[in-house]
Amino acid sequence: MLQQITGAVFEYLAENRLLIQLAKKVGLPLGGTLFVGGQGAEETLDTVKQFNQDGRAATVDCLGEFIETEQDAVDIANECIKVIGQIKEHGLDAQVSLKLTSIGLRIDPDIAYQQLSRIAEIAYQRNMRVTVNMEEAMMVESIVRVFERVHEHYPNVGIALQANVFRSRFDLERLKATVRIVKGAYDGDDEIYIQPKKTVDETYLQLVKVNLLNGNYTQIATHDEQIIQQIIDFAQMKQIDPSRFEFQMLQGMRPKRQQELVRQGYRVVIYVPHGVDWYTYLMRRLAERPANIAFTVGAMLRR
Ligand code: FDA
Repeated sequence: MLQQITGAVFEYLAENRLLIQLAKKVGLPLGGTLFVGGQGAEETLDTVKQFNQDGRAATVDCLGEFIETEQDAVDIANECIKVIGQIKEHGLDAQVSLKLTSIGLRIDPDIAYQQLSRIAEIAYQRNMRVTVNMEEAMMVESIVRVFERVHEHYPNVGIALQANVFRSRFDLERLKATVRIVKGAYDGDDEIYIQPKKTVDETYLQLVKVNLLNGNYTQIATHDEQIIQQIIDFAQMKQIDPSRFEFQMLQGMRPKRQQELVRQGYRVVIYVPHGVDWYTYLMRRLAERPANIAFTVGAMLRR
């Protein structure tokens, strides 16, 4: 009950336009750095360097919420391109991720196509992966279409698919690409979203197994220990080389397990949120897990 109330409060705060604007001016509080790489490229790349020191790679997520104009989309794409350049300049082990709505998908899919192509081209020249995040149900077809157009020219671009969405199993077969499998951060209509959670977990495992057996590179993005262990066992049983997949976790979640997986010989990639739009991302993390509130407040008090 308490979890539902705190979740609803932080969801409300996440969408509050006034607080979003204020947060951009005030800057990232110290507690926020547990879950967010940084507001500026320098800060974020310092975070990535720390992960790289113990063998963890990173995917820097170029945040962008509530964009309104084509220029906003171009600005987010430019920031992402700047980060790609600096990752290479500093010799870091990192890639990038982003939402197509942050580069104009809601304004016009062609804008998102043009901006993603620019990002993909720069990343391609630097031998770097780009992952397209998956979003709410009404955007999925549009995201998949833009992805397909860009992927045709740039195989370094991959896409996230959500285990709690019925259509993902068909998208997996349709796309034949590097895929990040996630459980899914959105819910809603029963005709679109799978229920209950146990079935989502089973579908998650199924999607990962299918993609691994199809020979596509698989990004296993979860903190779920049972799933992680079952995938390790499956890969060993089927003699799938660990170079064909990687584990991904969000910055601030299960750091000890991340390091342990590295020591076990697996590639681990940390999702590092980056940019001035950190506020909405942070509020959503606090909404989904009350324990994160205690970590964040604790870090602020230790300041
Ligand atoms: P779930 O929330 O079911 O947790 C499973 C178990 O993990 C818990 O029961 C607990 O045992 C353990 N656990 C979780 N957090 C823990 C912690 N901090 N410490 C210890 N144990 C913990 N979604 C989306 O819709 N589109 C997208 O593009 C992406 N992208 C994305 C990238 C990456 C790298 C990640 C990790 C996640 C996403 N997501 C996403 C979010 C995803 O859909 C999902 O909401 C979260 O990952 C939470 O789901 P889990 O798989 O962790 O399982």
